[in-house]
Amino acid sequence: MLGIKEAVERLRSGGVVAIPTETVYGLAAEVTNLQAIQEIFFLKRRPSDNPLIVHVSSLKQLSEISKPLTELELSIINKFWPGPLTLILPRKKKVLDAVTAGLETVAVRMPLHSLCLDLLQRTGPLVAPSANLSGTPSPTKKEHVQNDFGPSFPILDGGACSIGLESTVISCRTSHLSTTRKNVSANSKTPSQSDIIIYRPGAISEKQLSEFGTVEYYSASQAEHDSAGSIPILPSPGLKYRHYAPKARVEWLSSIDRLREVTETSIVLLLDKTQLVDQAQAVEGTISSQELAQSFNLVDCEGSWERFGQLLYDTFRVADIENYTHVFVQDIRLSTATSSLKDALTNRIEKAISGQ
Ligand code: TXA
Ligand code: MG
Repeated sequence: MLGIKEAVERLRSGGVVAIPTETVYGLAAEVTNLQAIQEIFFLKRRPSDNPLIVHVSSLKQLSEISKPLTELELSIINKFWPGPLTLILPRKKKVLDAVTAGLETVAVRMPLHSLCLDLLQRTGPLVAPSANLSGTPSPTKKEHVQNDFGPSFPILDGGACSIGLESTVISCRTSHLSTTRKNVSANSKTPSQSDIIIYRPGAISEKQLSEFGTVEYYSASQAEHDSAGSIPILPSPGLKYRHYAPKARVEWLSSIDRLREVTETSIVLLLDKTQLVDQAQAVEGTISSQELAQSFNLVDCEGSWERFGQLLYDTFRVADIENYTHVFVQDIRLSTATSSLKDALTNRIEKAISGQ
């Protein structure tokens, strides 16, 4: 474990350090240090065509990385930064190709975490993908980083992440869909009509963004194709990689009946146990509330979406460590309660279920 001074020293001398943010832990290096950036790709076993997010602590730092912002981008940044929102912006030439994977754009965010902001003020902009091995769930506390990179890995410990899900990733320049790469055939362009495109849902929701313009989720049909017309070129390369999945099989717990299938090799993550107990009492012949209360490895978030977000990846990791075969997750899509986290959580759980 490192103190902030040691973390600064290590980063300045070209090292890689795991750092806390409000979303998930990141694997950080100086944005200008090619060798350290290559080390991140090596450590994570991350494909080199998957670009990194740059973290900044001020608009001045942002201006070192990105070309001037549009009015829309500026108002969105003023509203949501520091916070769990990443913007894809036109990059300055001096940004290393290794950071952007050769794209003309760069992803940037300002984290809402005082220790991380303090660090960034001292070091300048840092690249930081999530501090997990590619294909494992993002780390939401230092123990998760240690699981993936070993007990003596240098970590700046900022406690458990308050959100627990990766940032929302957006672009406010729909023309990016047709200008991000060379070799794109003209007739395969399908630029979006919306002001804001969400590439990855996160804690900043579609509804919150819609106060600033029309919003749409990125869909695979918007992907461009290379000049041969066959290989889709995704504007957010990370979309094509498998993410978030534990080894255990993840399933929605959509009906109370399914609790009968839960065995001692399962772990159950509930948004609200009381709701399920009420459901159970209403359906004769199903599991009793007493049975449910005593059942197996049950994690109950007592109706708190924030708690649910904080515990999702932890539950996936516990399942792997304890060799559980199944993770049953209460079907939040059926919940009448609303939350700005609902879309992001549904997205991550669906990815874990489908293994994509
Ligand atoms: O909350 C977060 O965003 C965390 C913390 C550490 O800040 N970081 C994170 O980074 O989740 P990572 O690398 O795991 O995910 C970054 C995503 C990837 O899907 C990547 O493809 C996409 O952002 N991305 C990065 N640069 C991009 C660019 N220039 N254009 C499109 N997508 C980009
Ligand atoms: Mg990641």
